[in-house]
Amino acid sequence: QTGHVTLDPGYVNTGACTSAITYIDGDAGILRYRGYPIAELAEKSNFLEVSYLLIYGELPTQAQYDEFAEKIRRHTLLDEDLKRFFDGFPRDAHPMPVLSSAVSALSTFYQDNLDPADAESVEISTVRLLAKLPTIAAYAYKKTVGQPFLYPDNSLGYIENFLRMTFGLPAEPYEVDPAVAEALDLLFILHADHEQNCSTSTVRLVGSSQANLFASISSGIHALSGPRHGGANSAVLSMLEQIVAEGGDVANFVERVKSREKGVRLMGFGHRVYKNYDPRAAIVKKTADDVLDRLGKSDQLLDIAKQLEEVALNDDYFVQRKLYPNVDFYTGLIYRAMGFPTQMFTVLFALGRLPGWIAQWREMIVDPANKIGRPRQVYTGERERSFVGMEQR
Ligand code: SDX
Repeated sequence: QTGHVTLDPGYVNTGACTSAITYIDGDAGILRYRGYPIAELAEKSNFLEVSYLLIYGELPTQAQYDEFAEKIRRHTLLDEDLKRFFDGFPRDAHPMPVLSSAVSALSTFYQDNLDPADAESVEISTVRLLAKLPTIAAYAYKKTVGQPFLYPDNSLGYIENFLRMTFGLPAEPYEVDPAVAEALDLLFILHADHEQNCSTSTVRLVGSSQANLFASISSGIHALSGPRHGGANSAVLSMLEQIVAEGGDVANFVERVKSREKGVRLMGFGHRVYKNYDPRAAIVKKTADDVLDRLGKSDQLLDIAKQLEEVALNDDYFVQRKLYPNVDFYTGLIYRAMGFPTQMFTVLFALGRLPGWIAQWREMIVDPANKIGRPRQVYTGERERSFVGMEQR
């Protein structure tokens, strides 16, 4: 008996894990973090508060929130030697392997606080990662544009600090656009956790060997980078740009998807769990309209995306396969309107997913039932056979 469910002991052999962090009902389109519906958190909370909720299990009091935010502010700087890592990457390096490399390298700078069994080390690693990932992400972007890195400005909020490090220049003051900060905070909330998805399962599997938090999160970043997973938000933009480049014929593109033309998929559609609709997608779609209005930007690609959604939602091929827009379908359009290049979209997904990865890793390492991950297989190879010498082959 754990909480409100009774577990069949056999569950352990299914490779399933227990978790009290996020609940998804794929048929009903339900997503809750620690019991709170995603729509309520999106409307009433902010990303740091949701991060606290995911990691510690309860919404913080004002004093707990202030202490959490202050601890994070105190750790936003990178070690100057880690900053020099970025000099070694090629200018055109994709920011995701840069992000994963820098996170992995954090474990070489904090060797005294890596033990997953030491509560203090887990706490300081949690704060360091939440504080430093935005700085690392901003520097990964600055590297691609050859601009100087800005040190964090701790008088700014969490999101605002990241935006200034990303888009600010030492040559002139940078004013954060509140509309951008507010929209990015909301998108980070929507991405903050999602049960046992590919990258979170990777974080838990790597962590189950008692690898440290930085190593586990670095692995999760790599898993997220794949186009079937977090890489999809960038792939949606490439798909929309391809449709426009080929004349904007949405119906023709949908027919090519249905004919299963090689490499032609409706990116941003479909989900392993949501077989009705992804509750996050509805919120993101509304945000896209709001953000583009507030930024005074229209985007032909948003119009194409809406046409694509309209056609697909009324086409049996997609309806029969229960393919609906997922969280990635509209997010890239918002990130583009904010000024981020396509390559940074999955980095933004990682920034949002970080508290969920940390919460899931922490939950796993303190679980007394937790064993090293060891997925089983069904062997389909040769039966036993004897060795044949080279001359007989
Ligand atoms: C995320 O797990 C999570 O929670 C992930 C995530 C999170 O928050 O962590 O929600 C984030 O990763 C969202 C998903 C982003 N990925 C994409 O948008 C990429 C495009 N989507 C697909 O590649 C696919 O839908 C997956 C990978 C998302 C889900 O794959 P499934 O559930 O394994 O589905 P499937 O590959 O078994 O497909 C079922 C059928 C197949 O047709 P048939 O062979 O049965 O005829 O649907 C078809 C597929 O060909 N299909 C698609 C399609 N997705 C599935 N056909 C066209 N376009 C698509 N996008």
